[in-house]
Amino acid sequence: MSTFQAPKGTYDLTPPRSATFLAVREAIAAPLRDSGYGYIETPGFENVELFARGVGESTDIVTKEMYTLTTKGGDQLALRPEGTASVLRAALEANLHKAGNLPVKLWYSGSYYRYERPQAGRYRHFSQVGAEAIGTEDPVLDAELIILADQAYRSLGLRQFRILLNSLGDKECRPVYREALQTFLRDLDLDEETRRRIEINPLRVLDDKRADVQKQLTDAPKLRDYLCDACKAYHEEVRALLTTAGVAFEDDEKLVRGLDYYTRTTFEFVHDGLGAQSAVGGGGRYDGLSEMIGGPELPSVGWALGVDRTVLALEAEGIELDLPYTTSVYAVPLGEEARRVLFGVVTELRRAGIAADFAFGGRGLKGAMKSANRSGARYTLVAGERDLAEGVVQLKDMESGEQGPVELAEVAAELTKRLG
Ligand code: HAM
Repeated sequence: MSTFQAPKGTYDLTPPRSATFLAVREAIAAPLRDSGYGYIETPGFENVELFARGVGESTDIVTKEMYTLTTKGGDQLALRPEGTASVLRAALEANLHKAGNLPVKLWYSGSYYRYERPQAGRYRHFSQVGAEAIGTEDPVLDAELIILADQAYRSLGLRQFRILLNSLGDKECRPVYREALQTFLRDLDLDEETRRRIEINPLRVLDDKRADVQKQLTDAPKLRDYLCDACKAYHEEVRALLTTAGVAFEDDEKLVRGLDYYTRTTFEFVHDGLGAQSAVGGGGRYDGLSEMIGGPELPSVGWALGVDRTVLALEAEGIELDLPYTTSVYAVPLGEEARRVLFGVVTELRRAGIAADFAFGGRGLKGAMKSANRSGARYTLVAGERDLAEGVVQLKDMESGEQGPVELAEVAAELTKRLG
């Protein structure tokens, strides 16, 4: 170990586990790519004001969890705690919404930063793959996104996850509910901080995990009873579309989410094998966010799935992904001359598109063959002085154990044929 360690709340991805992370990212991205979502990448930091306005001044993310910094030039920046505000900012900046092709469907993959109390499944640096569909109000779009996330999890073999679904209403009906809830909450026996929360973000109080608080909330007014007809109809349509698609979900009135931009549809994917940090993904509709960051009215919907927690979910279900070995051919030179010749062969193979690796460092046959085995290569090439004198290398099929000489000039062609 060196003098240094990864910062608190972070960890490194190293082989072989890192291969699972790549496969998870790929599995989440694949259904999006196949459904018309284009790839977007935005900076790892943004103007702090974007998140303050977008994610919400009253959220934990903005008040407690942002990594903020002032640059030497005096700019106030924050490492991105989430992707939605950045992606919308970038789409507006590039005028993607004006190309006459709504919704603008985008997907992304990257690192996010939240100064949270680290625990199993909760890190200060984590990784998400996300999708945003910008500029269209259509329950089919909400359903599409939920179905694609479900498809991604299923393609990985995950089964012990559930989809929680709720509607948070819109700018017509939510304020009415908010007030009714505040009136109710103000009469309860609550601590100072929670009292403050009633005034800033009363819906978050419903999310309080403490039993004594939950007990007092039994008779709290229900958002369901306040939804306007338009929101109700919209929500029913999303539910019906999911049911038709055979995607099971649970109605969860308590699902509030930790970001302020949500309207109407909200959902979370929870995994039952993860303990406290059970949300493997979440999202919803954010019809007002564009205007909140100075853009035009652009009703949108999206989600982000946590890569770290998805990997933990795989481990919890005991799922080992079928990751193919990356090396097809492993070359073992015996002696100086063979090193030069076989390295030439490896270079030729690689240029021909065959994944090849090499026993570096002039190791003995035994050690080198061990590495060949570990690489998972289907074939090894071994050559010593005598082989070179005859113009051949020994080609060994690691599966059958069969071995025989192949002309040096024919190696690439022979392996191309065998590897199909
Ligand atoms: P979020 O629920 O804050 O939503 O995060 C989405 C997922 O990221 C979570 O379900 C979890 O799997 C993962 N995640 C969040 N924080 C951590 C952490 N500290 N450690 C490990 N994993 C974590 C959003 O970020 C929204 N932008 C989603 C969205 C997109 N809504 C609309 N479009």
